[in-house]
Amino acid sequence: TGTVARDDDPRRGPADSPFVRACRRRPVPHTPVWFMRQAGRSLPEYRQIRANVAMLESCRRPDLVTEITLQPVRRHGVDAAILFSDIVVPVAAAGVDLDIVPGTGPVVAEPVRTLDQVEKIRPITRDDVSYVDEAVRLLVAELGDTPLIGFAGAPFTLASYLVEGGPSRTHAKTKALMYGQPELWHALAGRLAEITLAFLRVQIDAGVSAVQLFDSWAGALSEADYRRFVLPHSAAVLAGLADAGVPRIHFGVGTGELLSTMGEAGADVVGVDWRTPLDVATGRIGPDRAVQGNLDPCVLLAPWPVVEAEVRRILEQGRAAPGHVFNLGHGVLPETDPDVLTRVVALVHELSAGPADQ
Ligand code: CP3
Repeated sequence: TGTVARDDDPRRGPADSPFVRACRRRPVPHTPVWFMRQAGRSLPEYRQIRANVAMLESCRRPDLVTEITLQPVRRHGVDAAILFSDIVVPVAAAGVDLDIVPGTGPVVAEPVRTLDQVEKIRPITRDDVSYVDEAVRLLVAELGDTPLIGFAGAPFTLASYLVEGGPSRTHAKTKALMYGQPELWHALAGRLAEITLAFLRVQIDAGVSAVQLFDSWAGALSEADYRRFVLPHSAAVLAGLADAGVPRIHFGVGTGELLSTMGEAGADVVGVDWRTPLDVATGRIGPDRAVQGNLDPCVLLAPWPVVEAEVRRILEQGRAAPGHVFNLGHGVLPETDPDVLTRVVALVHELSAGPADQ
């Protein structure tokens, strides 16, 4: 298209940023870095702006979404912004009665048990999430060459909140439904896949430069169950974006045994948590996809020399991958000292800087 900048254009735009280039396994001037949950409670400026605004309300106010999304970009100099929102925002827009309870997470008023309930979760259009469309447009204008990452929850992780009614350690009710009522399971996951696809489409149409599909809790499943109950639905979402022209990142926690299958679902980049070294992960995922990760968020609470050694190790192991986006293995913990995040960004840039070799 006419907006794709040439390599000698001094203003190349987000599509040619180190982050998008790494996602596409192209040479980069330095390893790009951003942090899952970079916008949030580790930042005093976030706590201040959220002091009197409920979580879901803040996600529906484009002015607040814009400000909160920009905070970590200004402070840390990360290579990408991630839209401030939550995985349950589109589900709430689809008519599910839920809230995000501070310190707990999403809580659903009437956990899903029946086909009747599944059918009441209605497909969404742009108008149901116009505040997201608006916020993305404001952000793209503000961010200039810094790419904005859009995101959504994957069907399994969303279904877990809907079926359990809230956060769960074992996902027992979700698995019981999956094994005991497979038709109901597929109806629910299929509906959630539709909503997720529509939600990501709105973000892409508004200008995000990449999307991340969060299947945070998929690691609770065996590879065989993942393949049977989850893969078709996540693959439908990712395939629905194949023509959109933006990289697709697919992430889960504890997914060492699922990495190659999650790649197969259609990702350009596979997120890896801290349990699997990036060179091992690359061996599983193969040469056709980049990797993202994988510093243990708890390491950020350790003395600086420990952090530095871990960053070096991860950059080293990331060299085995055809593309590496530096990130944590999961989200920033609220008790993290934000100055440590800023130092990590500078260190990743310094250690990985080299001729772009284009
Ligand atoms: O990464 C970012 O900076 C963008 C913002 C973002 C939030 N949630 C904001 C948020 C993103 C990408 C998410 C995704 C999300 N939400 C996931 C997938 C990522 C992951 O962590 O695995 C999941 C599972 C959820 C569900 C959810 N929402 C949880 C578990 C919680 C935390 C509950 C708590 O209070 O500890 C939330 C609430 C939430 N989402 C907060 C933020 C900043 C904290 C609420 C607050 O600040 O009051």
